[in-house]
Amino acid sequence: MQSIKVLLLAALAALGSAALAQDTGYSNRGLNLEGIGKAYMGREIAYVMGYEGAAWLEREARAKEEGTEALLPLLNLKPTDAVADIGAGTGYFSFRLAPLVPQGKVYAEDIQKEMVDVINGRKAKGEGKNVVAVLGGITDPKLPPGSIDLVLMVDVYHEFSYPREMGQAIVRALKPGGRVALVEYRGEDPKVPIKELHKMTEAQARKEMAAVGLQWVSTDSKSLPIQHLMIFAKPN
Ligand SMILES: C[S@@+](CC[C@H](N)C(=O)[O-])C[C@H]1O[C@@H](n2cnc3c(N)ncnc32)[C@H](O)[C@@H]1O
Repeated sequence: MQSIKVLLLAALAALGSAALAQDTGYSNRGLNLEGIGKAYMGREIAYVMGYEGAAWLEREARAKEEGTEALLPLLNLKPTDAVADIGAGTGYFSFRLAPLVPQGKVYAEDIQKEMVDVINGRKAKGEGKNVVAVLGGITDPKLPPGSIDLVLMVDVYHEFSYPREMGQAIVRALKPGGRVALVEYRGEDPKVPIKELHKMTEAQARKEMAAVGLQWVSTDSKSLPIQHLMIFAKPN
């Protein structure tokens, strides 16, 4: 009798954790050295690039390797737009976006204080008067609710340790009809010279954005040399 009880309890516990994984999309995933040992909707989450890599973000070859200048006009910004560069790092994109929204602003957000310090250091030298540095948290970028026209995430989403919570917080921060521009190394292409967990496929990105209520608008896999540019929108 006692052993039946134990078996029943074990079965209930297993059912409970399966239901939890189904609800949240999270599950444990074995040790990939590039990963944090946790998966979301079947995708293993990559570790966060440390602030020690800041110089790599600003490397001279980046413009050619990633076509960074080509990205900016593809975002179709209006001069009054409020943009949030989430996972801004050193502000590589924030300070390039700032002149495109002279009557708007750019929130340059990151979870690493050292990165936010770099952004504030650049501002102190006179760069990007309309750039606002924000120290966010791992589940919440701490942006004003209903205020953002465009969220840009370049090479960052796959590092979120809580992608569902971040996605929900991003939706809260967007205006109705506001857009998300998700730029990720193309996971379908084995020739893209980036570690597996730091790439994403279009199918996976669309699945994860849909899970937080974002509608797919377009995917451009040709304009940038090695990345997808995927646009999603918050419904009106
Ligand atoms: C590879 S860097 C890319 C930086 C920048 N987007 C660029 O393209 O130059 C990824 C950045 O995302 C940040 N990051 C990781 N998880 C984050 C989260 N949950 N919220 C905000 N930033 C995050 C990291 O601290 C790091 O600065």
